[in-house]
Amino acid sequence: MTTQPKAGTARHGAPPHDATPTSGDRNPLREGLRLERIPEPCTMVIIGATGDLTERKLAPALYNLMLSGFLPPEFTVVGFARRDLTDQAFRDHLRAGIDEYSRNRPASASIWDSFSSSMEYQRGEFHDAAAWAELAKRLDRIDRDRGTAGNRLFYLAVPPALHPEIVRQLGAAGLASSGALHGAGRKGWSRVIVEKPFGSDLESARTLNRQVREVFDEEQIYRIDHYLGKETVQNLSVFRFGNGLFEPIWNRRYIDSVQITVAETVGVEGRGEFYDQTGALRDIVQNHALQLMAVFAMEPPIEFRAQDLRDEKVKVLRAVKPMSPGDVAHDTVRGQYTAGWVAGEAVAAYRDEPEVAPDSETESYVALKLEIESWRWAGVPFFVRTGKALPARATEIAVQFKQAPLALFARAGAPPMEPNILAIRVQPDEGILLRFGAKVPGPGFQIRGVNMDFRYGSSFAVDSPDAYETLILDAMVGDASLFTRDDEVERAWEILDPISAAWAAGEGGSLHFYDAGSWGPTAADEMLARDGRAWRRP
Ligand SMILES: NC(=O)c1ccc[n+]([C@@H]2O[C@H](COP(=O)([O-])OP(=O)(O)OC[C@H]3O[C@@H](n4cnc5c(N)ncnc54)[C@H](OP(=O)(O)O)[C@@H]3O)[C@@H](O)[C@H]2O)c1
Repeated sequence: MTTQPKAGTARHGAPPHDATPTSGDRNPLREGLRLERIPEPCTMVIIGATGDLTERKLAPALYNLMLSGFLPPEFTVVGFARRDLTDQAFRDHLRAGIDEYSRNRPASASIWDSFSSSMEYQRGEFHDAAAWAELAKRLDRIDRDRGTAGNRLFYLAVPPALHPEIVRQLGAAGLASSGALHGAGRKGWSRVIVEKPFGSDLESARTLNRQVREVFDEEQIYRIDHYLGKETVQNLSVFRFGNGLFEPIWNRRYIDSVQITVAETVGVEGRGEFYDQTGALRDIVQNHALQLMAVFAMEPPIEFRAQDLRDEKVKVLRAVKPMSPGDVAHDTVRGQYTAGWVAGEAVAAYRDEPEVAPDSETESYVALKLEIESWRWAGVPFFVRTGKALPARATEIAVQFKQAPLALFARAGAPPMEPNILAIRVQPDEGILLRFGAKVPGPGFQIRGVNMDFRYGSSFAVDSPDAYETLILDAMVGDASLFTRDDEVERAWEILDPISAAWAAGEGGSLHFYDAGSWGPTAADEMLARDGRAWRRP
């Protein structure tokens, strides 16, 4: 989609207050409750700047932040990776990413020329201390020449196995300390954005956290889970705490059960080697699904600030009941897709994907029943499912409310009413749907479910920013509200490790197969049916 930049905002460096906000631009979380969105001058160092994430997500995010006038005039990008590129070739690489993946595309030639002149490339091997020393010198020079004030944001856009070495090198090169006197003679900040996955189990996550904290303080570390940057997830807090209507019913007295679905139509998409070692539980549930659950279920924070928000989220995770092997057999289902059809396209079986073991036991689908043992949620099951090669791409949280205490209309011959549902659509087609019963026109009391439907796309005249735009800007202004803290990450693994262990020991039930293009194994339907419930079709 092509959206013209607003007048006065296209310049690299137009201050945010130059923007002419429409009603949709005004995000209360941005304007008051969270920190001011005016980043100080800084340099962003993309470590792994020739990779896929940079091309698909980071380059478009920076371009759109610049178009919206959120980047300070001094803002500078340094790309660091292994291959030998000139500055110009690096700029062309970023531009190709924007032209293909940006919500505003293609890049406008004149705007791009001006913006890209502040981008440089540094070639280097991560294990080579000389490359980091050279990077440090380059950053000092940029501070002097461009006035970036010693402020550095390091983005680790690399596979996680490389994180420890990179962080160690950043420390050794003197690039990690916030408040240090930099070459330009002033104190600046240093922050690091770390991409998921954060470990592959509790032990590896603890090790990784320790290694990063040996060099950076926790306040400098921004662990990114891009789901938290999505507009609908932020809106969930506004929906609950900004309206008087919903919070009073957000508890076990009125809510019967909650379903969290992260459904993908795609298979492993060329990531067979990574995915086969990871699986759906680690790839999606550990981060995205549990984060959605925590935001949904948390108590109101004292203030809308990083520390308070994360304290509340971690309380939810601490209250999740750990599973025994018996629970795993009863309350989890793992599946793997066989050949089938998705959206009219033939899909090969998971085991036939490139770089996947032909006898792989890795789950491409998982369904769980979790319990949050808290005053608010005791007795309310949280059903979580995620899968690949499903019929629709949809992420949603669906709340099923308890039935009215008396089936008054059944006495007048009406069939049983379907339960009231509140569905929060995270993607695509972000919005909120409320489903309730209404009388069918005519004689008698026929009742049918109808929808009240709020859609971001039609209610606001502006595009939502991509999650990476929101999160990069947040890291620049030092707002960690939407990033995960070390204890959240570790607690999420504590919840899931017993499940992986039981599966590995053959105690957690067998792997169930499902056709690509179906809604997962029938065992997952049976798991809910045992509870007298059924999965919603998003
Ligand atoms: N791709 C996505 O859309 C996506 C989405 C969400 C999260 N993520 C996460 O983002 C992270 C990065 O993923 P990615 O797909 O962008 O990885 P990638 O395509 O493999 O890119 C890796 C980058 O690291 C550089 N590199 C690797 N080893 C190096 C070394 N020894 N010395 C110097 N540079 C080295 C590569 O440089 P050369 O190419 O020059 O060798 C390349 O720039 C992962 O944690 C992934 O899980 C990715």
